[in-house]
Amino acid sequence: MLKNKSLIDGVIDKFIGKKGALIPLLQEIQNIEKYLSRDVMKYVAEKTGFKLAQIYGVATFYTMFRLKPQGKHVIRVCKGTACHVSGANSILDSIRSELKLNDTDDTTSDGLFTIMVVACLGCCSLAPVIMVDDNTYGKLTPEKITNILKKYK
Ligand code: FES
Repeated sequence: MLKNKSLIDGVIDKFIGKKGALIPLLQEIQNIEKYLSRDVMKYVAEKTGFKLAQIYGVATFYTMFRLKPQGKHVIRVCKGTACHVSGANSILDSIRSELKLNDTDDTTSDGLFTIMVVACLGCCSLAPVIMVDDNTYGKLTPEKITNILKKYK
């Protein structure tokens, strides 16, 4: 049984039978679920007539879709040009170290944080920049990371 079944049914009703519906349908479901689980993809296939392989193909092709649960807090680390030249890599290394994440994991084992690398957060003059949930932190140094993350623990 899906946790958000009635919300997901509402999204399916909104898009069913419409051309080009699969991507926006999956986006809205991901907004509800925070990621696309195998159970959700199977449910969408059963309800819409899209083949599971087609849904899985779209979900794995586009980087905007997550196939694993997302942490309670999302840390967006900008690696756009302005942030890159201002030290984004050392900021990312510092966050990974602080959260004890290896190079392949994006979510802490306690489910508190997920890291996402993004291309630009739209405030390049503050580079290097991260966002934690809806809060922006700029002109960062690796030394500032510990105090920032402390606020969310
Ligand atoms: S490049 Fe980082 S905010 Fe634009």
